[in-house]
Amino acid sequence: MILQSTENREAYYNELAELDKKHFIHPTTSFKQHQEQGPKFIFTEGKGIYLKDVRGKTVIDGLSSLWNVNIGHGREELGEAAAKQMKKLAFSSTFATNSHEPVIELAKVVASMAPGDLTATFFTSGGSEANDTAFKTVRYYWQLKGLPEKKKIISRKKSYHGVSVGASSATGLPGFRSFPSLAPDFLYVDSSIEALKELVETEGADTIAAFISEPIQGSGGVNPPPEGYFKEVRALCDANDILFIADEVITGFGRTGKTFGMEHYDVVPDVMVIAKGITSGYAPLGGMVLTERLRSELVSLSDGIFMHGYTYSGHPMCCAVALENLRILKEEQLYENVRQMGEAFQKGFEWLQDRHEVIGDARGVGLLGAVEIMKDKETGTRFDEPVSVKVIEEALHHGLLGRSIIYEGQDTLAFAPPFCITNEEVEKIISIIDESLTTVLKKI
Ligand SMILES: Cc1ncc(COP(=O)(O)O)c(C=O)c1O
Repeated sequence: MILQSTENREAYYNELAELDKKHFIHPTTSFKQHQEQGPKFIFTEGKGIYLKDVRGKTVIDGLSSLWNVNIGHGREELGEAAAKQMKKLAFSSTFATNSHEPVIELAKVVASMAPGDLTATFFTSGGSEANDTAFKTVRYYWQLKGLPEKKKIISRKKSYHGVSVGASSATGLPGFRSFPSLAPDFLYVDSSIEALKELVETEGADTIAAFISEPIQGSGGVNPPPEGYFKEVRALCDANDILFIADEVITGFGRTGKTFGMEHYDVVPDVMVIAKGITSGYAPLGGMVLTERLRSELVSLSDGIFMHGYTYSGHPMCCAVALENLRILKEEQLYENVRQMGEAFQKGFEWLQDRHEVIGDARGVGLLGAVEIMKDKETGTRFDEPVSVKVIEEALHHGLLGRSIIYEGQDTLAFAPPFCITNEEVEKIISIIDESLTTVLKKI
């Protein structure tokens, strides 16, 4: 049995670390590094933008953990909403035509927040399941329309859509596809409308079910789209009967200062994928939102059972937590705070770019931002070893948790703090990045 000792936190950490190494297989982690280094942090509590670990260290959660704890840590109301729901109805199935109150209520709220006629939600436990659901649903739709050959899914290079077999196959970062036997019929395209047009022409629109994209790519490096891109994509999809799936897993529910990321580009997709921010990470929940047009077509075309459903599709507790999270975000005007703090945050990145020759690019929208490090801006040459990894390590010494993105040869520092952040906290984040960059660059 583990006895927590406040006097000897280090011993307690060591005890937990040994158990972690032996018994816990970490996601997206090097098996070797985990065994050699053990867990960097063992967190025990969180409040606002801060996390605290067993050794008593407090750090700023500069990425809202996994771009998801949008409301901030330690909101007891969400725990109370979960407990209340679990005491009343912990679980009941939504298979066949069964339903329950929180899932109906949440589906209504999502419909009221979603743009255009995106009004009907299929719930999952997270983003990967939601993307898989979208891929199966669009293919099912074309099959019902008598066009079973329309099954290819086009995604963008540097995109991230998750790690289930389908979502990995759709992910445009090759590292995530380094497994044998992933799913067939996924294609990857450069982020220009010309490249997409060419691919559609080469493959033939009659073989393509859908195009999927994040409004702003997250894990691929926080990449906003080229100017006018999504409007042209929408037109191309319409002209070729290709469904447009927006993966709003990171950008949904306010991260960019608008309720959904695609709203920046004035485009309404046919299918919208959501997760993370819907519960701010307090409970696992995702979903696929369909337009009323698609929903009603599925109703009229379908003659059998849609053989797709997760045990936890619309879990009552998760839905109750989502409802409470969305209520608080709205009532406390946290979306407005994202707009205001987002401006300060993005200005901070521009300021960093002015101060540091090595910052080749500063980019982002709202509270989603990144700087890309280059040895030579003109040529785009990188340092031999990624600098961002060292900067993130250094920033940790100063109490800031962020992400280094080195896929596809990039060298990017990414941040996405919780929506409850204050001006002083934004300044603190920027000054820690500044200080950490200066320290690391001195040693190179
Ligand atoms: C854009 C995007 N889509 C999908 C996913 C996968 O979501 P999950 O990890 O909940 O399966 C993620 C996760 O980071 C994401 O960023």
